[in-house]
Amino acid sequence: MNDLSRAPAARIIDGAGFAARLRQRLADRVAALKSAQGLHPGLAVVLVGDDPASRVYVGSKVKHAREAGFLSQDHRLAAATPEGELLALIRRLNADPAIHGILVQLPLPKHIDQSRVIAAIDPAKDVDGLHVVNAGMLAAGRDGLVPCTPLGCMMLLRDALGDLRGREAVVVGRSALVGKPLALLLLAADCTVTIAHSKTRDLPALCRSKDILVAAVGRPEMVRGDWVKPGATVIDVGINRVPRGEKSVLVGDVAFAEAAAVAGAITPVPGGVGPMTVACLLANTLKAACLRAGLPVPPEAVA
Ligand code: GUN
Repeated sequence: MNDLSRAPAARIIDGAGFAARLRQRLADRVAALKSAQGLHPGLAVVLVGDDPASRVYVGSKVKHAREAGFLSQDHRLAAATPEGELLALIRRLNADPAIHGILVQLPLPKHIDQSRVIAAIDPAKDVDGLHVVNAGMLAAGRDGLVPCTPLGCMMLLRDALGDLRGREAVVVGRSALVGKPLALLLLAADCTVTIAHSKTRDLPALCRSKDILVAAVGRPEMVRGDWVKPGATVIDVGINRVPRGEKSVLVGDVAFAEAAAVAGAITPVPGGVGPMTVACLLANTLKAACLRAGLPVPPEAVA
């Protein structure tokens, strides 16, 4: 079954292409809002410190926001910035009518209390969907702002499978940023959902029984080919940099070649879920701007 010399059985889910089309549709909406309503959706991105991976992610968020016509603010603070200074910036952004979305890149330096920072963001501008108000809205089955990576996973799953009702799904990982909200979104789409984690017993057998397998744990190539049900849809959220020979390469949480020989469809790394996270950040910013202005939310910005 895992003869890697064969061509992959799975359809490769083109997240990069899907994200590019979504960004274009969002750019069209932004242009229309500007000309018809005089509304210019604005996103403020905040990076504290100089973690190299975070700098790459933040650079991509700012660049794509600008390219899609959003007003885009890029706030860079030194690693030693006191928590009070960051909270003061968030209060200014909360009060700024030109800003509809605020994203504070995580992780934050250790001397800053992450939950206090997230709690300081106006829930209506919390385009990361991490504020307890938005997490609570999702848990209660009400419409709020949903974390970007789970939103992107849902868009790819709906595109790959159509109706998700009744499908058996496992989400490996229970983070507040991905695993938990994605499980709730799958539940809202009428999937039967299991959340697996480090204490789950016989994880390979559990995964092998599911139609949808999502890996969001941050462990390079943990999910092997024989964990995948033949024909299943595999969504790989992991982005792990690992040494390979002289260089380093990006790999997901799924052993891609093995899994692609068994799955029906699979996201690659890079080019799968990653680009969707940025596109969904723009979708959330557009949604926040429309809600603030009392305008209908366009379908591109809905899970
Ligand atoms: N760090 C890694 N992913 C994310 C994300 O989606 N949002 C924020 N704020 N920080 C992150």
